[in-house]
Amino acid sequence: MKGIIFRGLEALVIEKCGMAAWDELLEKNAPDGRVYISAQSYPDEEIIGLAQDVATALSMTMPEVLKAFGEYLFGHLNRSHPTVAKGFNSFAELIMGIDKVIHVEVAKLYHEPNLPEIESKLIEDGFILMHYRSKRQLCMCAEGLIYGAASHYGIDVSLNHVECMHDGCDKCVIEVKYEALNG
Ligand code: HEM
Ligand code: ZN
Repeated sequence: MKGIIFRGLEALVIEKCGMAAWDELLEKNAPDGRVYISAQSYPDEEIIGLAQDVATALSMTMPEVLKAFGEYLFGHLNRSHPTVAKGFNSFAELIMGIDKVIHVEVAKLYHEPNLPEIESKLIEDGFILMHYRSKRQLCMCAEGLIYGAASHYGIDVSLNHVECMHDGCDKCVIEVKYEALNG
């Protein structure tokens, strides 16, 4: 997992719980002297460990933490790469462009990123069906990112996770219902 994702979690924890809380989490879950550099890769287990401890500290479940983190992460990624989302005029366009545009750009900017496979299909205005596949099974993080994107465009979205890799399915299927432009 790239440092930029860890930096997002770091910013969120510091904002909500303070610097001391983050230092404590880091001490427990990372090698001594760890500093996350955006473009560098770090073990996936490290972010899972950090997120798990955040969950314990805040009495939240792991899916709840990943979702909250994903929502925050959208803004964080957007601040670091301000030109990427500017290329899209609407929430729907952005969601349709995650795999073939956004993550393609990411793959040019970062060395060997570990990206999920995301297929988005526009069923009708206001309804996109998303398929998510990744060894990392961070589908709740994907949900959070979708909520983050919706709040970026100032619209309401509701998600229905109808199939999940965590239940043994070969992919996650997420129904994305959003406020359509034409009512
Ligand atoms: C990784 C989904 C938008 C950059 C990921 C991951 C997910 C995801 C779930 C975690 C890795 C995995 O699941 O295997 C999404 C969704 C988006 C979105 C649903 C929009 C709603 C963006 C944007 C950017 C971005 C706007 C940057 C401009 C990245 C980067 C990684 C990543 C840098 C980390 C790759 C690595 O650690 O090697 N994305 N993403 N994503 N995404 Fe996205
Ligand atoms: Zn899932």
